[in-house]
Amino acid sequence: MSKTKSQDIRTRCTHVDHMEGDPYRAHVSPIYQSSTFSFESVEAGAKYFSHEEGGASHCYSRIENPTVQLMEKAMADVEAHGGQEELEALAFASGMSAISAGIMALGKGGVVLAQEALYAGTDQLKAGLAAEYGVTVKTFDGTSVESFEHALAAEKGNIKLVYLETIANPVMRLTDVQAISALAHDAGALVMIDNTFCTPYFVQPIALGADVVAYSTTKYQGGHGNLVGGVLVGRKGLLLGGDVQNYRKFFGGIPGPFDAWLTLQGLKTMAVRMERHGENAMAVAQWLEKDPRVSTVWYPGLESHPDHALAKREMPRGFGGMIGFELAARDGKDAAVMGAAMMDRVQLCTLAVSLGAVDTLIQHPASMTHAKVDPTVRRQTGISDGLVRLSVGLEAVDDIIADLDQAMG
Ligand SMILES: Cc1ncc(COP(=O)(O)O)c(C=O)c1O
Repeated sequence: MSKTKSQDIRTRCTHVDHMEGDPYRAHVSPIYQSSTFSFESVEAGAKYFSHEEGGASHCYSRIENPTVQLMEKAMADVEAHGGQEELEALAFASGMSAISAGIMALGKGGVVLAQEALYAGTDQLKAGLAAEYGVTVKTFDGTSVESFEHALAAEKGNIKLVYLETIANPVMRLTDVQAISALAHDAGALVMIDNTFCTPYFVQPIALGADVVAYSTTKYQGGHGNLVGGVLVGRKGLLLGGDVQNYRKFFGGIPGPFDAWLTLQGLKTMAVRMERHGENAMAVAQWLEKDPRVSTVWYPGLESHPDHALAKREMPRGFGGMIGFELAARDGKDAAVMGAAMMDRVQLCTLAVSLGAVDTLIQHPASMTHAKVDPTVRRQTGISDGLVRLSVGLEAVDDIIADLDQAMG
């Protein structure tokens, strides 16, 4: 847990790696790469299993592991920067494992009201899989509080969980977390939100009213593209010791100690990386917007973005590292053909899915991450065939721009 009392996320991030009680006082925490933990006596083992005081603290790494727990405490600590209430966290083997456990456990027996535009994996869960596990999912237009109010009224008190994304992947539209959370709570529902694109550096959903935040830590928390992981962070009492933890235990979705440790190492530099991701993305978005070869740029930091006013309210530090854009049709070639040609010509940027790595990643949602989303839904939610998605990295921004410039031809 953090040694610092500072509320500033930059200080909190750098001080999370502190294993209390380590006999060697290692500066960087050790990795407890062990499947099982020995009991001092039969009595200590029995007390562990019957949850009695004085029993063993650890038993088996599918249930809990000291390195994973350190990472969880760090996530909760960083999320709560700025003087929020204390939070708790549960780590998972991937972002999807965290999201499905949260939706299934918190939404079971009722209706989950989810925004239409979602990350494709969550979209597929929403479209079919959730129903197989007894969870009914209904949708609303996440960009409209009015649409949410209508959906809420239509379900008359059946809603258990409202599911949002802070910035909808990949069209970069925002959701009014504060307004929707207040309405959801009045209706007796919990609010869960995927904040992967923003991290707590840019948006603090729980301070805005949400109850549980989901992350694919594969992205900015890990930060180096070398792991797959996820985490849920929530208000005390919602995650630990209840249904969500049981889902993790019985579906077996806990991360291994090494991945948890890598995530912890990434978290230490997250604030400083996010600052640079945000600065670079702003500069790239402004350059793209001025270029006549580009027809549309989706970046919440631009005044032209439909949710710019909301972004200024909910994202006080900046607007994140993700950009969507579309090239203009040229020489009889439509935006999709132009975009594909550009993605084949990049030299510095890497043509790859995922996001939040140190280097700039470029991809084509319609044929890659969102290929399995129904094409009609894809178009309705703004994912045109020409949309290009950029995860802006930490390179010198002039080099990123020079690469995009030559690739556009
Ligand atoms: C916004 C968002 N949420 C969740 C996920 C799923 O995370 P993971 O791949 O770690 O399961 C992703 C993956 O790209 C994502 O972009």
